[in-house]
Amino acid sequence: MAGRRGRRLLAVPHLTGRLQGFGTTIFAEMSALAVETGAINLGQGFPDTDGPAAVADAAIAAIRSGRNQYPPGTGCPELRDAICHHQRRFYGLEYDPADEVLVTAGATEGIAAAILALTGPGDEVVCFEPYYDSYAACIAMAGAQRRVVTLRPPGYGFDPAELRAAITPRTKLLLLNSPHNPTGKVFSPEELSTVAELCVEHDLLAVTDEVYEHLVFEGVHLPLATFPGMRDRTVTISSAGKTFSYTGWKIGWVCATPELVTAVKTAKQFLTYVSGAPFQPAIAVGLGLPDEFYAGIAADLAAKRDRLVDGLTRAGFEVFRPAATYFTTVDIRPLGESDGLDFCRSLPARCGVVAVPDVVFYDHQSEGRHLVRFACCKRPEVLDEAVRRLQALRS
Ligand SMILES: Cc1ncc(COP(=O)(O)O)c(C=O)c1O
Repeated sequence: MAGRRGRRLLAVPHLTGRLQGFGTTIFAEMSALAVETGAINLGQGFPDTDGPAAVADAAIAAIRSGRNQYPPGTGCPELRDAICHHQRRFYGLEYDPADEVLVTAGATEGIAAAILALTGPGDEVVCFEPYYDSYAACIAMAGAQRRVVTLRPPGYGFDPAELRAAITPRTKLLLLNSPHNPTGKVFSPEELSTVAELCVEHDLLAVTDEVYEHLVFEGVHLPLATFPGMRDRTVTISSAGKTFSYTGWKIGWVCATPELVTAVKTAKQFLTYVSGAPFQPAIAVGLGLPDEFYAGIAADLAAKRDRLVDGLTRAGFEVFRPAATYFTTVDIRPLGESDGLDFCRSLPARCGVVAVPDVVFYDHQSEGRHLVRFACCKRPEVLDEAVRRLQALRS
C-alpha cells in the first residue's frame, strides 16, 4: 500500500485500516536515532533544562501531602480556577471553572477527545498544512476526513480562496494551531478574522491548539475565541508543557461552553479518565506566576532562536525566521539536497545532529519535501555545538 508519506509501506498486521500508514511518529524515530548515535537532538521539541523551581516544589509538596489518588474528572479545582484566571488575565476571555474547563493529559488528549467527540464518519475537518502529526491520526480514528489548506514559505500565509474552497457542506470543524508548529508562524489578526468569518458563515466549530501561546517573539497571540462569533463555537486547547518546560508532566486543558466541554469530557473520560494528580496543583501555581516570568521565557527563547537562525544561515540553509515556538524551518536545497526525509535520516551519521523532516506534516508531499525543522529549546552551548557540527555540510 502507499503510505500517507507517499512511500510504499507494508500493512501492519492486526492494525485497523483507519490507522494503516501512520507508522511510528517521526519524533520517536528521530529521538531513537539521537540516542543510538549520540547525536545532538534538535528534532523533538523538549527543553534540556527544568522549568521554574516554584512549580517543581509545588508538585513535590503535592506528592508529599498525599495528593496522589484520582483527581476530580474535570481536573482539580485550583487548576480549573487558575486556567480561568489565566484566560481572563491574558485574553479577557471569561470561562466558568465549574463547567467550562476540562483538564486533560496534555494538549494531545484534549485534541484527541475533541476530535473524537465532535466528528465522525461523513464529517470533514479542515486544517492547515504543515500540521502537528496527531491531528491526522485523530481525524482518522474518528473516521472523519481531513481537508488541508497549505501554508507556504517564506511567510507561511494562506490563500483565503483556498480556505473557502476547502469548506464543504460536510465540514464540521476547523482545526487551528497558532502559534504554529513547525513553521513558528503566529497567525495575524487579519488571518484570524478571515478564519473566524468563515467559521461563522458556515456554522463550523473550531478547535484551537495554543500550546505555544507564551512563546511568541514577534506579533501577538490572539486566541480565535476572542473573535466575533467565536467564543461559543471554539474549543480552546492549551497545555503547561511548553510554557513551564515540564513537557513530561502532560497537563493540558480545554476551555469551551458547557455543552462543548460536556461533549469533549464524554470522550476524554474513556481515554485516560484523569491523570497527573500532583502535577495539577503545581501547574496552578505556575499559571499564577507574575508577568516577568512570562516575559522572561519568551525573551530567553527568542535569544536561542536568534542563535539557531544565525547558525543555520551560516551553515548554508535558507532559513525561515520563526516569530514564535521552539522551531525553525529551513529549505535544504541551497545545500544541494532535495529530500528532507533522507537528509534527516543521514544527518546524525554525517554530522551528529538530529532534525525532523517537515514532509511528515504535509498531505501534499511536494510542498514539504525539501523542508526540515530544527528545535532551539536547548542550552546555548548545545545549540552552538550543533551549529558548529552543521558547518560540515558546506564542505
Ligand atoms: C502543536 C502542538 N500541539 C500539541 C502538542 C502536544 O502537547 P502536550 O505535550 O501538552 O500533549 C505539541 C507538542 O509538541 C505541539 O507541538
